[in-house]
Amino acid sequence: MTIERTFSIVKPDAVERNLIGTLYQRIESAGLRIVAAKMLHLSKEQAEGFYAEHQGKPFFASLVEFMTSGPIMVQVLEGEGAINRYRELMGKTNPEEAACGTLRADYAESMQYNSVHGSDSPGSAEREIAYFFTADEIHPRC
Ligand code: PPS
Repeated sequence: MTIERTFSIVKPDAVERNLIGTLYQRIESAGLRIVAAKMLHLSKEQAEGFYAEHQGKPFFASLVEFMTSGPIMVQVLEGEGAINRYRELMGKTNPEEAACGTLRADYAESMQYNSVHGSDSPGSAEREIAYFFTADEIHPRC
């Protein structure tokens, strides 16, 4: 398997509930390395740009409102098969459908307040990492 990078967000609901450390511990225990991280409070424009592919969907406005409601942590994760590994760790978007032991099963409250985000493909990972990080902010260890 190849070493990949993926992009991750600890969303406002999880930051508000003091879950940053817990989620970082779960990420690292799953064999992923955090190679870049920062805390941000997104502007409306930043959130709309990040979620541009969902523009026009019924939940778009509330998703943007939620993602700008408080600080978030953004991370770049690195490891073997990082994109799928992290998606498996997160579980499905809807916490009611997320498998037991996944982050969303354990911490998410709803489709919107679902605690974490992760890139869904290599193309998304590249775009999302570049949206928030410059190359010199990433510190590879592999
Ligand atoms: S889709 O339509 O299948 O592409 O959507 P999905 O990938 O499941 O979700 C995309 C992001 O939108 C959020 N979402 C919602 N927010 C509020 N209300 C509703 N009903 C809703 N449905 C989806 C969801 O949390 C996803 O956020 P990310 O950050 O991508 O995980």
